[in-house]
Amino acid sequence: MSRIRILDESVSNIIAAGEVVENPASMIKELLENSLDAAAGSIRVEVKNNGRDVRLVDTGIGMGKEDLFLCVERHATSKIKDKGDIFNLTSYGFRGEALASIGSISKMIISSKTNDSKIGHKINLNAGKITKYEEISRTDGTEIVIKDLFFNTPARLKFLRKKSTEYARIREIVLKEALYNTEVSFSLLLDGREVVKTSGRGIENTILELFGRNTLKNSTKFSLGYWGNMDLLKSNKESIYTYVNGRYVKSKTIEKAVLDAYYTKLVKGRYPFAIIFFNISPDLVDVNVHPSKKIVKFVDEDGVYKEILDCLTDAIYRDDRKNSISLKIEEDGDVIPEKNNLLDFEELENLITPTVNKVIKTEQSTLIKEKKLENKVRERIAKANKYSHEYEASLPPDVFPLEIKESKREDEAEKNESREDKTTSEKGKESIEIKKILEAEKQDNKDRKNPEGINEIKDDYRVLAQLHNMYILVETGKELEIYDQHIVHERILYEKLKDKHYNKKISIQNLLVPIKLELNGYETEIVRGNLDLFSEFGFEVEEFGDNEILIRGVPIFNFRVSVEDTFKHLLENLGGGDPREKVIISMSCRNAIKAGEKLTLEEMETLISDLHKIGKYTCPHGRPIILKMTFDEMNKKFNRK
Ligand SMILES: Nc1ncnc2c1ncn2[C@@H]1O[C@H](COP(=O)(O)OP(=O)(O)OP(=O)(O)O)[C@@H](O)[C@H]1O
Ligand SMILES: [Mg+2]
Repeated sequence: MSRIRILDESVSNIIAAGEVVENPASMIKELLENSLDAAAGSIRVEVKNNGRDVRLVDTGIGMGKEDLFLCVERHATSKIKDKGDIFNLTSYGFRGEALASIGSISKMIISSKTNDSKIGHKINLNAGKITKYEEISRTDGTEIVIKDLFFNTPARLKFLRKKSTEYARIREIVLKEALYNTEVSFSLLLDGREVVKTSGRGIENTILELFGRNTLKNSTKFSLGYWGNMDLLKSNKESIYTYVNGRYVKSKTIEKAVLDAYYTKLVKGRYPFAIIFFNISPDLVDVNVHPSKKIVKFVDEDGVYKEILDCLTDAIYRDDRKNSISLKIEEDGDVIPEKNNLLDFEELENLITPTVNKVIKTEQSTLIKEKKLENKVRERIAKANKYSHEYEASLPPDVFPLEIKESKREDEAEKNESREDKTTSEKGKESIEIKKILEAEKQDNKDRKNPEGINEIKDDYRVLAQLHNMYILVETGKELEIYDQHIVHERILYEKLKDKHYNKKISIQNLLVPIKLELNGYETEIVRGNLDLFSEFGFEVEEFGDNEILIRGVPIFNFRVSVEDTFKHLLENLGGGDPREKVIISMSCRNAIKAGEKLTLEEMETLISDLHKIGKYTCPHGRPIILKMTFDEMNKKFNRK
């Protein structure tokens, strides 16, 4: 009996009509999704001739003779029956349009066999008309061959882009399907060259196979997928992969939630790597907005935004708090900061096996020792494997300490920042006594609530000393922590200013003698366009002559550099992004304690305690604040263990 039936007109009429096949990539997407709906365990796609010749072979359930004839009819589908099903989709396909559309603009051959039949069937089509049928012998599954796509639609043929563009699109489509369907093995060959190959062995292997080791290492699992750290920042949004109920989609709502969750970590023009698998009851999402099924609408867009934002923000900040950096010491004495919280079985085994081999070689006589070591390794691998798959919020540090590579990004803000660090330290300028400021801040902090109200305030530590007038050394029960004093203070100022601004608590001090500032034309334009913004932050500014302004009022803020300097820096950094965020970042960066400034023990204690109250352990640009080395690592280094 056939599975496929022709949809009733009352149903087909409400399905978004339109061209299914815009280009070879969209055709391949349709074919892949048919194979996935047919429960294929493996799918191989071969592409030639700019994407106009395609051969796809799958190991799915296949089609019997009747279905084979029906599948190329319009509105012929085995996936839905009535209107209600459209709003409760569980398959990729539902319109019964794809094969009919593809067939009508190409020469197509479909061969298929189901596992309950001894023979297979094959049909040939030319521009949608069946020209030949034969019985064949073949394995279970389906093979579709498309030749001369668009041969009878010259207008669309003209729109075919150059080979590299079409092939890039095809590769992207296959990659997106493979990234979700991680139990299916995919293979894509472009002109005989294999460009995508996955083994169908789960998500982490798939990430490794599609994006490489670096991406896997720098990604962290969370409740809705994976988020990449700052080593994986990209120049466009294309690396935010979003799936709703298993379908790759574009959703502004989801994209915004992801970007907002990274918040201050992103600098202008940089976007994260993230994979979001969002599942929602099918009746709360409409995929039938556009024939390509790529655009979705949620019944509750705000709710979806909030859910994704909360989960991802929580994951990112939990990670910040937990690790910052830990140092991994290699045998040769090199310090390798490296994050490997996502080691899979294979990776950990590779990491450990050379060490095991070495030991076995040099200590062959001590068989017992060898056995013990091997057992230990197996234990670690088993643990790591368990953890890489069932990621828990608090990975025990002794199983595998989380290690983050210090960001090498060279965004402008950071460059400026380090330049400032240097010049100021060279000059040794200290506009206001640090002690006074910290005391004022301490007072300020007294009744300041922990911003999230959820962070446990850390108090099991002891500040030891200042290193090189740049770093603060802290001892905890398990490790030695090294804090960057500039970033610590910057983060504190940032959080305070943000809190004051958003809670409208910025007070203004009117100046008896206004400050006159000379600006260039560009700066004057920026001032003109942002008078309200400056006023929100307590800077009362008015124009005075062509390229001069008067600052009549300033915020009550612990300026460590002059008002002029702060204001000029602000103007330099205003372009692009959220202007409020830019002001907050600029003011806190400029006025934070610099590298090279000497601090007393008390001052350092105040800084560290304030930071723990805030509980965020990166600078507003995303740079980490703490380096950690566990005593276990130290003991190993000194051959104590
Ligand atoms: N690779 C395949 N293996 C088994 N059956 C298939 C395969 N490809 C298509 N079919 C059958 O052919 C039918 C028609 O496929 P087609 O892609 O045209 O429509 P659909 O998948 O139902 O809906 P949509 O137009 O939304 O893709 C499917 O419903 C399915 O029953
Ligand atoms: Mg289909």
